[in-house]
Amino acid sequence: MKHPPARRSRGARRGLAAASAALLLASGTVALAQTQASAAAGCRVDYTTNDWGSGFTANVAVTNLGDPITGGWTLEWDFPGNQRVTSGWNGTFSQSGAHVTVTNPSWSSTLGTGASVTPGFQATYSGSNAAPARFTLNGTVCDGTTGPTDPPTTDPPTDPPGDRVDNPYAGADVYVNPEWSANAASEPGGSAVADEPTGVWMDRIAAIEGASGRMGLRDHLDEAVDQGADTIQVVVYNLPGRDCAALASNGELGPDEIDRYKAEFIDPIAEILGDDAYAGLRIVTVVEIDSLPNLVTNVGTGDVATENCNEMLENGNYQKGIAYALQKLGAIPNVYNYIDIGHHGWLGWDDNFSSSADLLTEVAQQSGSLGNVAGFITNTANYGALKEPHFTIDDSVGGTSVRQSSWVDWNRYVDELSYAQAYRQELIGNGFDQGIGMLIDTSRNGWGGSERPAGPGPTTDVDAYVDGGRTDRRIHLGNWCNQSGAGLGERPTANPEPGIDAYVWIKPPGESDGASEEIPNEEGKGFDEMCDPAYGGNPRNGNNPSGALPDAPISGHWFSAQFRELLANAYPPVQ
Ligand code: BGC
Repeated sequence: MKHPPARRSRGARRGLAAASAALLLASGTVALAQTQASAAAGCRVDYTTNDWGSGFTANVAVTNLGDPITGGWTLEWDFPGNQRVTSGWNGTFSQSGAHVTVTNPSWSSTLGTGASVTPGFQATYSGSNAAPARFTLNGTVCDGTTGPTDPPTTDPPTDPPGDRVDNPYAGADVYVNPEWSANAASEPGGSAVADEPTGVWMDRIAAIEGASGRMGLRDHLDEAVDQGADTIQVVVYNLPGRDCAALASNGELGPDEIDRYKAEFIDPIAEILGDDAYAGLRIVTVVEIDSLPNLVTNVGTGDVATENCNEMLENGNYQKGIAYALQKLGAIPNVYNYIDIGHHGWLGWDDNFSSSADLLTEVAQQSGSLGNVAGFITNTANYGALKEPHFTIDDSVGGTSVRQSSWVDWNRYVDELSYAQAYRQELIGNGFDQGIGMLIDTSRNGWGGSERPAGPGPTTDVDAYVDGGRTDRRIHLGNWCNQSGAGLGERPTANPEPGIDAYVWIKPPGESDGASEEIPNEEGKGFDEMCDPAYGGNPRNGNNPSGALPDAPISGHWFSAQFRELLANAYPPVQ
């Protein structure tokens, strides 16, 4: 299910920027043509400068032409030149590259219909000082017109109520899924971990009621209440055209079935989660793993692009679906939305890192408020080591940086913890609240057992050093299916490190990533060769063998041999 294609490519990144600009225009047109009742949004900006050749001050007068904004506003633009803001007033300014984000001052978060606010700033520049071509207010382009917001809603977007706790895992007993627990306990030695909390996956419409005799969403929530749990973790995973860069977790909805996604999947989930009976639970929702990262790396014309991902980028249904889910679920006071950030072996390259953070920010803004997001999750269902103890990104051997080793291959990160912490800072720079926290899925990134290196590799050359010392024993960082040699990682823990809300087991260990050969099924799952141990690879894993275990069932099904290996190779070891 995890298909980290992750090769850096400047060409592909530029392609994405162009494509997503086109997409914004296209979705604006669609929104205007819609007739259903929705909130009106619109704005006008007056940009005036006072320029002295190498610097300037500017006033950005913004008028809200739409419905009153009550939960805070975010104004954004891109500078056409090298302008850099050095200080600002009447708003909190941040700049990443050419992109500027201004959020409301804490003392002024509302903007009534017809009301204006004028943030201003001082900046430096060289060359020319052209005005930005386009401003957005809470994601709406300020072109002086009004139209319904996208995604449309029957109710005006609600602001997330302010009574959430900072970290839903802090001091919490987290729900133990009895179905997973029984599978784990049925394996030799499995009872040692069978009471660990794992994610409950809503991976198709039928899962809401309970597919194939399994517990449905209400069953899990009722059971969580019975357990006296404080927190439950639910994965929301059924986007149209799901898993566009791989086949193992293709889903039931076709690329265009966004309306079914909203009406038959998100709406019923929101209705259940909003039930008063569950108001005492903190409900963590992991929203649509893999999807937005795929729109960053697997699009365009390069050798890692797929037709399906290009189609999803063009139709915008990943963004629309996620914005809708964030808005609907974020309106429930005890729901905590976490968005997927792939993992370091996917988005850790410079060209993928900021562009993916920008895309996530755009989508969160489309949901009506960045406040709909409690945090982000990395490594869901992947195998990236939490910490590489025997080398860091700053090491070098004989003057050659580890970044030049074939394993690291110019990535900026060597492990999930450093990646998650840096990504959090990037998102805060994009305007997210300081209160956001990160989750790291440590269900299968333990890499213990006899193959675990006890110390650094030899300093004969940089490859020997990295390959000898790395605990992640995969053949290639891009391998993602049922990895041979992996072990259970850190047991679920709250507040383990600064900026990290929790280590979690979202992928239930022992559930397959995908079948090692074609198996007919009714879940829409395809066969991905990356799950076949005999496969020689593709450009997304540097044409290396897949490293997958043999004889795997389709994704999500119990894979006893994998569970046993995860237990044997656990790190820290299972006592
Ligand atoms: C599958 C889902 C399953 C989940 C958890 C995914 O790879 O596509 O069907 O629920 O893994 O095991």
